[in-house]
Amino acid sequence: MKQTLASIISNDEVMPGVHLIWLESPQIASEAKPGQFVMVYCGEECLLRRPLSIHLVEASKVAFLFTVVGKGTYWLSQRQAGNNIDLLGPLGNSYFIHPASHNLLLVAGGIGIAPLRFLAQEGMYQGCSVRLLLGASTASQLYSKYFLPPEAESTVATEDGSAGKKGMITDILPDFAIWADQIFACGPVSMYHTIAIHKQELLKKPVQISLEVRMGCGLGVCYGCTVKTKNGLKQVCKDGPIFDLDDILWEELDYNDRGKEVILKW
Ligand SMILES: Cc1cc2nc3c(=O)[nH]c(=O)nc-3n(C[C@H](O)[C@H](O)[C@H](O)COP(=O)(O)OP(=O)(O)OC[C@H]3O[C@@H](n4cnc5c(N)ncnc54)[C@H](O)[C@@H]3O)c2cc1C
Ligand code: FES
Repeated sequence: MKQTLASIISNDEVMPGVHLIWLESPQIASEAKPGQFVMVYCGEECLLRRPLSIHLVEASKVAFLFTVVGKGTYWLSQRQAGNNIDLLGPLGNSYFIHPASHNLLLVAGGIGIAPLRFLAQEGMYQGCSVRLLLGASTASQLYSKYFLPPEAESTVATEDGSAGKKGMITDILPDFAIWADQIFACGPVSMYHTIAIHKQELLKKPVQISLEVRMGCGLGVCYGCTVKTKNGLKQVCKDGPIFDLDDILWEELDYNDRGKEVILKW
């Protein structure tokens, strides 16, 4: 892990309010594993760096997919090709593909596709079959199949029914879980909670999730991201962000009304 200056190659709004930024960073590109993140310097107004998952790696380039939600991500959305961005990473642990697994089911709720696209690439590189379940509130918020590898199968669901099946992505998850050797998820905490509730009777497959909590340092120093798990206290930035779904103590976590942000109860 190092601090590095990365030059922007492109920064495009690929969905309303969602940017895909490509940067030249041989260091991060050579070290990154799917599920890891970087801490991004987001301008003078942001005291703290902001965590973003590594979305894709190609040769010496690295990409991030982010939703503009506040001043940090807005600042980043305004940067242009040729600007340098200060990055710290790669950080955290990564998704683990078991050597015996062949069928990988990736479940993305909204912007949760961010770390899963890289995992899809890695899974296929390892010779696995990859299927993506993509969920969004509406069609315009769906990650385009154009950005997916053609070999990966994908199925979509939208809450308003404007694309794919009407409903939540977790509604169709049991139909595909039977095929999977492993399930990998990234999305709102409410989605994880639903998966956890149904896991015993419907899924019966190992599930890894990326847990997003507010981070201070991202380096295991401030303890601001500590969560209680069945295996004791864990720092999401260092021991995570990837956890086995079964390890999470749901009664110790809460989430905001949008279901997106983990609120630590203690
Ligand atoms: C390990 C990790 C990886 C992440 N990867 C991505 C990614 O690839 N793409 C992406 O778009 N976002 C990702 N996030 C969330 C991202 O870090 C936040 O959206 C960002 O820090 C917000 O910064 P801001 O200054 O724009 O917003 P702020 O002004 O800090 O906050 C604006 C709003 O966003 C909410 N918010 C802030 N932080 C989070 C968070 N961690 N989770 C959910 N809601 C938050 C706040 O409650 C507030 O409502 C990740 C978070 C973590 C912890
Ligand atoms: S964010 Fe500081 S310890 Fe995890």
